Amino acid sequence: MKPHVLVTKRIYPEAIAYLKQHAEVDYAESDDGLSADELLVRARDKQGLVSQLTDKFSAAVIDQLDGVRVIANVAVGFDNIDVPAATRRKILVTNTPEVLTDTTADFAFALLMAAARRVVEGHQFVHSGKWTKWRIDLLVGQDIHHRTLGIFGMGRIGQAVARRGRGFSMRILYHDAVCAPESVERELGLEFVTAERLLRESDFVSLHVPLMPETRHMMSAEQFRMMKPTAILVNTSRGPVVDEAALAEALEKRVIAGAGIDVFENEPRVDPKLLTLENVVLAPHIASASVDTRKKMSMMAAENAVEALEGRRPANLLNPEAAPQ
Ligand code: GLV
Repeated sequence: MKPHVLVTKRIYPEAIAYLKQHAEVDYAESDDGLSADELLVRARDKQGLVSQLTDKFSAAVIDQLDGVRVIANVAVGFDNIDVPAATRRKILVTNTPEVLTDTTADFAFALLMAAARRVVEGHQFVHSGKWTKWRIDLLVGQDIHHRTLGIFGMGRIGQAVARRGRGFSMRILYHDAVCAPESVERELGLEFVTAERLLRESDFVSLHVPLMPETRHMMSAEQFRMMKPTAILVNTSRGPVVDEAALAEALEKRVIAGAGIDVFENEPRVDPKLLTLENVVLAPHIASASVDTRKKMSMMAAENAVEALEGRRPANLLNPEAAPQ
C-alpha cells in the first residue's frame, strides 16, 4: 500500500509528479498555506508531510501528528519546526541544503551592491522623470571593491558570500560559534575576529546564521552603534536575527548608512518605518528564488519524504536520533 503524503502549499509540479509515483498525495495547491487547525485535520491520515517555512510545527502541533513519520521542509532553514519535539515522537525532519547555497549568496551580494551603489534609488529617480542633468555627486554611494566584508556565520552560505567578496578584492572578517576549518580560512583568506571587532571594522555586515535563541536579535541598537556610520547591513538569514524596529531607527538616524533586507520579523509584515526610508533595499524573502533552485528545493524535499517513507535514511536528515537504528 502506498503511503499518504500531505503537501501543505504549492510547489513545483515535477516534485508533485515524483511524489505521486510513490505515494497517495493530498495536495493543498494554493499559496495561502494551511492554518494550524487545517493542517492537523489534513495530516490526520498521513505518514509524510512536505512543508514550507510558513508552516509552524510547534511542539503542541507535533504532539498531535499521530502516524506522521517525516516532515520534509522545502527550505534550508528549519526554525519553523520544533525538531526536538519531532525527535521525541520519532518523526524525521529534513531540509534542502546545498542546492540553494550559491543562489542565496548571489542575492546577498545583489542586496549589498544595490544598497551600496543606490541602485533602487537610481531606478526610482530615472523612472519618476527627476533625471534632468548629470551632477558630480548625483546618487554617490559606497565602494565595494577593496572594502571590508564582515560575515556572521561561516557555514555553506557564508563561505559562498566570502568567495564572492574575494572576487571584489575585499578583506573578509568573520565570526561564528566555531571557527571554519583552516583550509577554508586559507582558501578564502578569512580572518576570525570577535563579534565586536567585526562590527567596528566592517564596511558591510552580512548575516548567515540560523535562527536560534542565541541569534535572536543578535543585531540590535547596541550592535548598530558599534558599526561604522558608513556601513551597510545585509540580512538574508532570518528576520528575527535583527531587531527590526532598532534597525529602522538606526537607518533613520543614520547610525548606519544603509541596509539590504530580504527577511523580516513578522513576514509578510514589514516595520512601517522601514517602508518610509530610502537607505534600505527591501525584498520579499526571495534570496533562494531562482527558477532552477526553487525547482531543486521542491524536488529535494519530495525525495527526502519518499526516502523516509520507504524506510531509507533521507539524504538531508536533521535528526538522525529519530531514525530507526
Ligand atoms: C529560505 O529561507 C530557506 O531557508 O530555504
